[in-house]
Amino acid sequence: MSPLELIKLARATRKNAYAPYSNFFVGCALSDGNGQTATGCNIENAAFGSTICAEANALSSAVAAGLGKPKQIAIVSTTQATPCGNCRQLISELAPNAEIYLALPEGDEFNTYTINSLLPDAFNSLD
Ligand code: THU
Repeated sequence: MSPLELIKLARATRKNAYAPYSNFFVGCALSDGNGQTATGCNIENAAFGSTICAEANALSSAVAAGLGKPKQIAIVSTTQATPCGNCRQLISELAPNAEIYLALPEGDEFNTYTINSLLPDAFNSLD
């Protein structure tokens, strides 16, 4: 699917974010390249550490729905934020070959990353 199509899905999902503490709303959409997509938004909690990031939420949905390894990941926020460290670790295992698009809530511009550029030398083994 085209990057902008996936970004559109992430933008729609961002509208469902539950972020009353930070007011920082994030949407994420994944595509497995076989026509299947999964989405996630951030879900905050009064116990701040219980917050779920948009990327973690989308990856959880993808696994639960039986998607193949994501080939594309779109992430939308007002700062075009890169994934947090924990989400980079999740992406490195669950979507190691994905193109990662970082986009704003509006407009046609986005930046493309790989997880290797965001998390080089990732931990990936108990050996
Ligand atoms: N957040 C995400 O959803 N993804 C990220 O990669 C960075 C941060 C959320 C967590 C929290 O709800 C809010 O953004 C502020 O940190």
